[in-house]
Amino acid sequence: MPALRLLLLLAALCPPVPGRRPQRDAPGKIAVVGGGIGGAAAAYFLRQKFGRSVRLEVLEKAAVGGRLATLEVEGAGYEAGGSVLHPLNLHMKHFVKELGLSVAPAHGSLAGIYNGEEFVFEESSWYIVNLLKLLWHYGLNPLRMYMWVEDILDKFMRIYRYQTHDYAFSSNERLLHALGGNDFIRMLNQTIDEAMQKAGFSHKFINEVVCPAMRVNYGQGVNINSFVGAVSLAGVESGLWSVKGGNKLVCTGLIYASKAEVIPGTVLSIEPKIRPRPTGDPVKLYQVTYNTTSGLTGDTYDIVVIAAPLSRKMANITFKNFDPPVPDFPNPYHQTVTTFVHGRLNTSFFGYRDPSAFHFSAIFTTENPKLFINSLGVVSPVEDVGGEGKLPLQSAIWKVFSKEVLTKEQLNLLFSSYDSVKVKKWLAYPHYSPPEKCPPIILHDKIYYLNGIERAASAMEMSAIAAKNVALLAYHQWYGNTDRIDQEDLHEKLKTEL
Ligand SMILES: Cc1cc2nc3c(=O)[nH]c(=O)nc-3n(C[C@H](O)[C@H](O)[C@H](O)COP(=O)(O)OP(=O)(O)OC[C@H]3O[C@@H](n4cnc5c(N)ncnc54)[C@H](O)[C@@H]3O)c2cc1C
Ligand SMILES: *[C@@H]1O[C@H](CO)[C@@H](O)[C@H](O)[C@H]1NC(C)=O
Ligand SMILES: *[C@@H]1O[C@H](CO)[C@@H](O)[C@H](O)[C@H]1NC(C)=O
Ligand SMILES: *[C@@H]1O[C@H](CO)[C@@H](O)[C@H](O)[C@H]1NC(C)=O
Ligand SMILES: *[C@@H]1O[C@H](CO)[C@@H](O)[C@H](O)[C@H]1NC(C)=O
Repeated sequence: MPALRLLLLLAALCPPVPGRRPQRDAPGKIAVVGGGIGGAAAAYFLRQKFGRSVRLEVLEKAAVGGRLATLEVEGAGYEAGGSVLHPLNLHMKHFVKELGLSVAPAHGSLAGIYNGEEFVFEESSWYIVNLLKLLWHYGLNPLRMYMWVEDILDKFMRIYRYQTHDYAFSSNERLLHALGGNDFIRMLNQTIDEAMQKAGFSHKFINEVVCPAMRVNYGQGVNINSFVGAVSLAGVESGLWSVKGGNKLVCTGLIYASKAEVIPGTVLSIEPKIRPRPTGDPVKLYQVTYNTTSGLTGDTYDIVVIAAPLSRKMANITFKNFDPPVPDFPNPYHQTVTTFVHGRLNTSFFGYRDPSAFHFSAIFTTENPKLFINSLGVVSPVEDVGGEGKLPLQSAIWKVFSKEVLTKEQLNLLFSSYDSVKVKKWLAYPHYSPPEKCPPIILHDKIYYLNGIERAASAMEMSAIAAKNVALLAYHQWYGNTDRIDQEDLHEKLKTEL
């Protein structure tokens, strides 16, 4: 018995985890502003790093999920915002598995590329025919593009290794540099058009294949930066998937798993506060003021993570009494409108007099000022398990992307008949115009900002990566683990590590 007691006593005195021993108390309270995928993933990773004792609060002004949302059309839900994931989006894949959710593979569809006058490319249901058509139209450009994207993706994948080994970065540029060196930084400085021309791709290929991919994924043409351009090209590869029941289930699931409390309210301002203590150093805190249905209120936090795009038109947050002041950075977002239409396509609009000859269920477009749409395609409900089967073209649910809300006249041109129409207007992703500069991650001592990474590229996985980076960074800064922040040559260093 005494021996056992001694053992227990020793155990109590010993640090629970060997190695890195926290030198200070854990933070009391952390605020996460925004309950989209970025904020939800931040809550999840913050809990993982800081442990059970910290209080986590997610402040959300609208609905958890943010830009991941479903819209109901005739009794079924459809993805209205962020919809498809790449097979190598490893954080998103991990979340889905961890939360016990299921994957819905993307439906196969026959695609056509329309230039406003005619189809410049028409996919066939025969693989070999497509291959020959591609070769005939574009030579080796498609294959070379695949390799070009693969090379970028290979480097991009290094982030998972760094994050598994607990390394964090204090700026978005440093993070990108650690993945792909100066090449990646340069990608923010040139358009996808310039980058691909330099790499020897043909004008025809860039206009007819690359441009439509930019338009469907980012509502913009080939003048967007080449990093987001490459992300967009990866977004048209095979093996794409989404979450059964809706991608936003990942957000609610992560918040639940993190045991964070969701507070419905709009954050209006943040202000630094110093609270003196009778013993020891004064405590530095942040006063966060938010508006709820029962009026203005607020609370103080040790750490604040901002997981919503900062700009007057979006997360309009005032930083009060900061010295030096938290800078304003230009952060324009691009409007994209999602319209769901249950109806029959007017095939004459696309130059097909005979509707029975029209087989496309996905239509991409090239740049043409005459065109009032970016893309349209047949979609299936989020509850649908996907997989096999052609979607019925007669009276299907079409999802249309456009810059502006479609007028009645425009809908009457696109559809020969339709019943329900559902519209969602988004400030969807940054309006890209290289040279692109990412906003800082550290806005003040312990205020961290996730969405600056969107200026490099906006995607669900990018927000998840930024969330893990911020959780690691906040943790290392709190405990003074400077050896895990902004390490150079990580790729070389980790080669020798297991
Ligand atoms: C139409 C469309 C299609 C897309 N397609 C894809 C795709 O196929 N694949 C892909 O990976 N990505 C896609 N994206 C991009 C992807 O949806 C976003 O990159 C991602 O969802 C951003 O998540 P986030 O959490 O960083 O931001 P958000 O989802 O915007 O979350 C921010 C949250 O903060 C809340 N908030 C804002 N201000 C305040 C405040 N002051 N106080 C409290 N709360 C506040 C908001 O209500 C919101 O819920 C698409 C986006 C759109 C709009
Ligand atoms: C990118 O452009 C910015 C602004 O024009 C410039 O300051 C920076 O040096 C450029 N970086 C690279 C790697 O070319
Ligand atoms: C707070 O919200 C209410 C409605 O919910 C609104 O009337 C009021 O103007 C808001 N206050 C501020 C300061 O934004
Ligand atoms: C942003 O907030 C400030 C201060 O609360 C307010 O004066 C301004 O009108 C807001 N801007 C927008 C576009 O809502
Ligand atoms: C279909 O498109 C054609 C060509 O743009 C147009 O003339 C016609 O009015 C449209 N509507 C219907 C119902 O055919």
